[in-house]
Amino acid sequence: MCGIVGYVGRAEAAPILLDGLRRLEYRGYDSAGVAIVDRGHLATRKCSGRIAALATLVAKRPLSGSFGVSHTRWATHGKVTDENAHPHFDASGKLALVHNGVIENYQALRDDLVRGGDTNFRSETDTEVLAHLIGKLYDESCASTVDVHQKKARLFAAVRAALQQVIGTYGIALVHADVPDFMIGARRGSPLVLGVGKDENFLASDVSAIVAYTRDAVYLNDFDIVAVERDKFEISSLAGESGDHQVSKVEFTAEDIKKGVYPHYMLKEIFEQPDSVRDAMRGRLSLEECTAKLGGLNMTPAQLRDVGRIVLMGCGTALHAGRVGEYLIERLANIPTEVEFAHEFRHRNTPMTPETLVFAISQSGETADTLGALRESRRKGFRTLGICNNVASTIARESDGGVYMHAGPEIGVAATKSFSSQVVILTLIGLLFGRMRNLSTAEGSRVIEALEALPEQIEIVLKLSDQIKAIAKKYADVNGLLFFGRQFNFPIALEGALKMKEITYLFAEGHPSAELKHGIIALVRPDLPSIFIAPDDAVFSKNLNNIEQVKARKGPIIALTSGNGVNQLKNIANEIISLPAAPDCVMPILTVIPLQLLAYHLAVELGRDVDKPRNLAKSVTVE
Ligand code: G6P
Repeated sequence: MCGIVGYVGRAEAAPILLDGLRRLEYRGYDSAGVAIVDRGHLATRKCSGRIAALATLVAKRPLSGSFGVSHTRWATHGKVTDENAHPHFDASGKLALVHNGVIENYQALRDDLVRGGDTNFRSETDTEVLAHLIGKLYDESCASTVDVHQKKARLFAAVRAALQQVIGTYGIALVHADVPDFMIGARRGSPLVLGVGKDENFLASDVSAIVAYTRDAVYLNDFDIVAVERDKFEISSLAGESGDHQVSKVEFTAEDIKKGVYPHYMLKEIFEQPDSVRDAMRGRLSLEECTAKLGGLNMTPAQLRDVGRIVLMGCGTALHAGRVGEYLIERLANIPTEVEFAHEFRHRNTPMTPETLVFAISQSGETADTLGALRESRRKGFRTLGICNNVASTIARESDGGVYMHAGPEIGVAATKSFSSQVVILTLIGLLFGRMRNLSTAEGSRVIEALEALPEQIEIVLKLSDQIKAIAKKYADVNGLLFFGRQFNFPIALEGALKMKEITYLFAEGHPSAELKHGIIALVRPDLPSIFIAPDDAVFSKNLNNIEQVKARKGPIIALTSGNGVNQLKNIANEIISLPAAPDCVMPILTVIPLQLLAYHLAVELGRDVDKPRNLAKSVTVE
């Protein structure tokens, strides 16, 4: 959801900024731009389209200079045009600003500026208004200053004064042509990290942009403003207080965010699932006590036992993982569990009993809707825990505790390995809470066995990739797809349809199998296949009824099944994808993978941009 990168150092800034932007492209790819200061002159290149288009522009008209800012955009205010691409400038054209977030009161601020005689706006964006406001405050305070230290201090003061007038969210970075080797960053609601190098420093929306240059990072907090120079930085709050900020080591390296032998990040991440699933449970299973150990929850045994209700919230894929979690926790721990769209939870008055425990599920840990819900839940005094992948992300830091996924960087916009990791963690939570209640040691150890068998079973499922590719080729001209599942696999129908929509742009819907006869059956026709997730479990025969109902109406059927299901479906389904047998509570981790692969292969077959599907962004930091 917009990515920003800034650099101050001794090297040429342009290649570093472009390289950083390429790594942040998952955050948005409507337009891109860069502004660099060279000996008191600010030069910019920006255009609509991908980073590759910007790189071509920069190659044709190179930029020199060793400090500057850059941006890749996911449009919120203003169309996708060259003019609306960031960076944006103040009225003097000397200050360049990049921004991730939304300035909600930009119209009022703009009207004020216009009333003061500033009419030199070139774009429709909220960001340009902020650039003008900072520039105006700086120019007013700095008219006669020649001393460079004073200029820095006054630019910093102008940023602070401007941000005090802002309602909304921002991660920003800015430079000024008159203030050499100096960059300012600030955040509220949108992520911003400072990369600390040797004789060079960086700002970025996400450490992946800068990890090739430094693994030392300072994660900024909301309301932090940072003044960045080559060899130092100073952080203080919007209110003027200086805070305590630690430099942390980034967990992964530049190598981890390369595609390697895979044509797309999505395929790489699908194939990483044996490892990511293993890493999600590493060190968290106690064979002796037949339970899970989740110290990060920061809860005593008595507190664990006293939880009377669980609310799981998230958006998109994370929400679907939560839906599996609802079945899991209720089955294993018998605790009433509900799943809430984070954005709905935040704005409605969900009745909450005092013993409610809330989990915010988010791969990025930055999703604005989920963060807003987390804050609302904590404001009301509920213990709110995070299930996040990005270490030190805002949700991870603002929650009362939680469980990291340890899935490694997920770059493909369509979430894959984060989903299976989230489901593993929710199984661990179900197991832990179950073992604090009525789940026997025998049942607990069966869950552990099932979990431990998963990595090898996932390897087996991944071997089906070629079969699934052939199915994708065969069905490439369909007009849409329906996905059906029951119980633990109902959320997998939702997730399968979401993956399909996200990257193939085909119409796709997921439903509980039994809903078929309550309306969806009207859609069934020969060019609309139904994907049934029907492993050989307690509800197989019910699924079989629904499959027959589709068959009777000439709807093509692709069935995911296991065990005896293969035999029972061989004369009914058009295609059978045969999966290893596993207990129903872990089966979703196996059933989701063929659907990820089906969406992937179909998208490739249709010539879609798999890692950067149209209109989407991976980390949605606006509401
Ligand atoms: C966006 C992405 C989805 C993702 C959702 C939640 O909508 O396009 O793929 O599932 O955000 O992201 P999170 O980082 O909170 O898990």
